[in-house]
Amino acid sequence: MPDQLSAAPIQQTPNTLMPSTIVSKCQNSPHVRLLGYFFVTLHPQSKKLCHMDTIKIKDLTFQLSITEQQIQQRIQEIGRQIHRDFAGKDPIFLVVLNGAFMFASDLLKEVEIPCQVSFIRLSSYVGTQSTGEVKEIMGINTPLEQRHVIIVEDIVDTGVTMKNMWALLSDHKPASIHLASLLVKPKNLKVNVNVDYTGFNIGNDFIVGYGLDYDGYGRNERNIYVLKS
Ligand code: IMP
Ligand code: MG
Repeated sequence: MPDQLSAAPIQQTPNTLMPSTIVSKCQNSPHVRLLGYFFVTLHPQSKKLCHMDTIKIKDLTFQLSITEQQIQQRIQEIGRQIHRDFAGKDPIFLVVLNGAFMFASDLLKEVEIPCQVSFIRLSSYVGTQSTGEVKEIMGINTPLEQRHVIIVEDIVDTGVTMKNMWALLSDHKPASIHLASLLVKPKNLKVNVNVDYTGFNIGNDFIVGYGLDYDGYGRNERNIYVLKS
């Protein structure tokens, strides 16, 4: 067994250490430059500092569309708005899994009033196409009667999922239902859905990243990427 206590402490790299600085300091020797390249690529901070313009997931290529900074800035605005609107109302956030997990995590940090969080799992997508049929995989398991419910969704596309969600929720007799969606494709809406808090309106293209997936992959990306045509 290695002695945990005598292990060397992990060196913390200051946040200000930019990859470009490291590379420019390593320009004298090709070996040192190569070493610098791998350090920059593999360093845990490097993912936060670089925006990859394109990513490949399985057979498809995606292009950078909304950066991490833009996402965080917008979420801060929405979060503070919800904070103000629901002060004293003891709201309950109903997070739609899987896609909304990242959005919900960052959004809820901005809401500093007493609130509860619950989760629901629905499914309507296969590959890059909506099936139009919504399946409830993990249902509502928290009493919602007379509660102010805020649905947290990743994206409203055709709107079918949210319309079904509304019907499902109404049966639980909540005091109010509001919807916060990070993304909305307004031109693709097939049913009427009222989005109270929208992060970004986008076109009809298929996107991945920041919780959204292509066949289960890409959810862990910090930025949002659009399918390259
Ligand atoms: P809707 O029922 O057509 O509105 O689809 C809603 C669900 O489909 C969302 O909650 C997402 O999980 C998924 N979805 C819609 N558009 C996209 C996309 O561009 N990329 C990944 N998932 C999407
Ligand atoms: Mg979703």
